[in-house]
Amino acid sequence: MSDGSFFESGHHGHSMIQVESDINVASGLPNVAYTDHDFWLFERDHVLGRTWAALSFSSEVCGSGVTVPITFMDLPLFMVRDAEGCVRVFHNVCSHRGMQLVSETSQAGLMIRCPYHRWGYDLSGQLKATPNIGGMGIHDTAGFDCREHALKEVRSAEYLGMIFINLSGEACPIETLLAPITARWQALAGTDFSQHLANDPGDFGTLELTVNCNYKLAVENYCESYHLPSIHPDLNSYSPLAQHYNLIVDEVASGQGTHTYDLERSEGPPLPIFPNWDGERLKTGEYLSLYPNVLLGLQADHFFAIILTSVAPDETRERLQFFYAGANALDDETLQRRRSLHGAWSQVFSEDISVVEGMQRGRGSSAFNGGIFSPVMDGPTHHFHQWFARGYQ
Ligand code: FES
Ligand SMILES: [Fe+2]
Repeated sequence: MSDGSFFESGHHGHSMIQVESDINVASGLPNVAYTDHDFWLFERDHVLGRTWAALSFSSEVCGSGVTVPITFMDLPLFMVRDAEGCVRVFHNVCSHRGMQLVSETSQAGLMIRCPYHRWGYDLSGQLKATPNIGGMGIHDTAGFDCREHALKEVRSAEYLGMIFINLSGEACPIETLLAPITARWQALAGTDFSQHLANDPGDFGTLELTVNCNYKLAVENYCESYHLPSIHPDLNSYSPLAQHYNLIVDEVASGQGTHTYDLERSEGPPLPIFPNWDGERLKTGEYLSLYPNVLLGLQADHFFAIILTSVAPDETRERLQFFYAGANALDDETLQRRRSLHGAWSQVFSEDISVVEGMQRGRGSSAFNGGIFSPVMDGPTHHFHQWFARGYQ
């Protein structure tokens, strides 16, 4: 993994990446960052692992005692909601012989039992039962202290209807990290719109796509509106490129916004708008890639979040949930409107598949190793590459 023009020898036997801060001369991330499995694992622990990465939607872990296995870039984890209703995330491995503890979503009740020798852990991960450890009918043994063999917990937090993890345990609090986005959108929504989010996964509330590309290409594509006329001609007809602006929000996010999102375009009776939304900016829509793996979209009458699950260096699962302004927004009267929105966004995200997959194939080319940026159109993507390069150390 060495390329003199992009890498310098760095720590941990790995190489460093440099992305020039001057966009006029900068080249993007090298191909290896999109194609190499070793790079991907290092990236998991040292880039995504040092910040807050999205793992799942909150709605996927409902009810105390429900355990849900999930893999984060080949790392086996599971989520559980404890007796207090808080989500906790653990490494999905038994302390005894390393058996995978949770293999399917199930109701564990108060005790998570290993299927191999039936050791039991409570919902806070403490080892509570070690049947027959000292011989048949003898459930303890000299010198063995259950307290030393609890499950390994991963730091987690719920925010905006999602569950985030910080593998290193050392990132700043997620509220601090996201404060610039929260502040920006509070100014637009007139209040903390996140207090009003309502989702019904059943009724056109979710969308899922698997794309054959590195998750970073989905982030980058979402950062820009440059491709609107060529890839989304229909969207561009009512929300044209010229009405878009670039967004860079502090260190953690970039993307684009529009002044002409048309709330009246979808079919059916209208949805309620978020309370206190700025009446002068009803047609504002903002689209942010929240690094490393979340895509957000905010309009006056709906919000959506996409979690990019990196399955492999060249495979990404995109899961989307729509959120509306309060539980009343999920009434039957708005079903037609929600269906219409779901259809419109499905079309937009489907249109992006060919370009993110095409860029992935391009990353197999020895004639390309990062490319160049338009100083006017590609600022948000350049910002993401700089962020990534700073983290990859
Ligand atoms: S491996 Fe889990 S109880 Fe033995
Ligand atoms: Fe697009």
